[in-house]
Amino acid sequence: MLSHGIIQAAYVIAALLFIFSLRGLSNQESAKTGNIYGMIGMAIALIATIATLNGGLHWVIIAMVIGAAIGLYLAKKVEMTQMPELVALLHSFVGMAAVLVGFNSFLPLTSFVLSLPSHEVTVHLIEIFVGIFIGAVTFSGSIVAFGKLNGRISSKALSIPYKHYWNLAAIVVSIILMFVFVNTDDYTLALICLLVMTAIALVFGLHLVASIGGADMPVVISMLNSYSGWAAAAAGFMLSNDLLIVTGALVGSSGAILSYIMCKAMNRSFISVIAGGFGNKSKSASSEDEEQGEYRELQPAEVAQILKDARSVIIVPGYGMAVAQAQAAVSNITEKLRSMGVEVRFGIHPVAGRLPGHMNVLLAEAKVPYDIVLEMDEINDDFPETDVVWVIGANDTVNPAAAEDPNSPIAGMPVLEVWKAKNVIISKRSMNTGYAGVQNPLFFKENSYMLFGDAKDSVEKVLQNL
Ligand code: TAP
Repeated sequence: MLSHGIIQAAYVIAALLFIFSLRGLSNQESAKTGNIYGMIGMAIALIATIATLNGGLHWVIIAMVIGAAIGLYLAKKVEMTQMPELVALLHSFVGMAAVLVGFNSFLPLTSFVLSLPSHEVTVHLIEIFVGIFIGAVTFSGSIVAFGKLNGRISSKALSIPYKHYWNLAAIVVSIILMFVFVNTDDYTLALICLLVMTAIALVFGLHLVASIGGADMPVVISMLNSYSGWAAAAAGFMLSNDLLIVTGALVGSSGAILSYIMCKAMNRSFISVIAGGFGNKSKSASSEDEEQGEYRELQPAEVAQILKDARSVIIVPGYGMAVAQAQAAVSNITEKLRSMGVEVRFGIHPVAGRLPGHMNVLLAEAKVPYDIVLEMDEINDDFPETDVVWVIGANDTVNPAAAEDPNSPIAGMPVLEVWKAKNVIISKRSMNTGYAGVQNPLFFKENSYMLFGDAKDSVEKVLQNL
């Protein structure tokens, strides 16, 4: 066993490496170095923690081998488009770990320990109770997020009557249970309080995330990231492990900051999103399923002609481009059009795709020059002077209802104002809605044309016709 001093020093070094890692991850060029710092920090943390063990090393090694094998397999197999659901699943593990640590800290206690008039016991009991509560909310919330992201659960917001009162009741009852839990000498009663609270917290987490509509899911993922950090910090308190407290707080606060930034980008109220859609008026279904009129369809040869005749083109990619893996074809057609003297630029919405920066990474991989890939704020004023906008597999991020229909579930969210261009071509497979489950009036505008088919096929066919 290493001395206490050496282990504490190792923890400080690991914590510093985690901070460097977060700093590195804040921009694309330094992200790789950031990841490496994180990996070294985690290795040091693991070695130092294992060195504190008093036996049972073989269990830790068996668990690590199984965990590492599953982790490696998933990392190799998972597609970019599945990353958010994998992250949601991983958050649920952190939540579950906090619940298990909590019960594991409580079960060895006895009625005698509970009756000791010591502050330490009281503080420890509060740590256990709060840790299990946060862990259970994170666990069930993340499972629902996972289901919503991979489409097993509907992405629409669940809206049960008096939902905010149910949430409030869950919190009030949990606080009363905590009061009883901390003050009773009766072990069985304390255990019952803990079990009842765990059940309430599980339902609470489930309801909290189910109440949030598809359009706000990016914020939910970063919010659950933050919760998982606080769950880890709570586990750190229960285990008296300083490194876990520091790491948990880092994850918790960075997740909270990211959620706040994303809420601002999407013009959402932070409080409303973290409270499970609190303050959202129930939106009418007017923009969802109603017939919106007629749409016009074009064939690849016609699209090629329109592009040839254009002076300026803006391509707006979305999730569909990622699913179809169309980025290389998009890059080829960009090169071709540019060689023909057409000005081609890209307009990227901050939440296009399924994770922050999704489109930028795909386009960079396909070698689209950085300087023609512009953010929403940089390009939104240029649409009225643009001849053709080509929307490839994007939907919610170009939905005029966000700007024009105050009753739409995505009302107020900034969108790329593509409908202001002279012509808009939309490549997708059907008239289906996007992730938020909202119908898109763009498809029925007079200057809009649908090009149906898989994005990669469509782009390749247009390219052949150029
Ligand atoms: P979406 O609104 O999800 O629309 C994507 C469109 O692509 C769909 O309407 C679909 O229509 C089409 N599509 C799917 N597969 C295709 C294929 N193989 N070929 C051609 N088209 C295909 O995407 P978006 O505009 O990128 O918006 C992103 C949405 O995801 C937002 O609602 C956002 O809030 C949410 N979200 C974002 C994030 C982050 S952080 N970026 C995370 C989670 C959720 P068809 O079915 O008709 O083909």
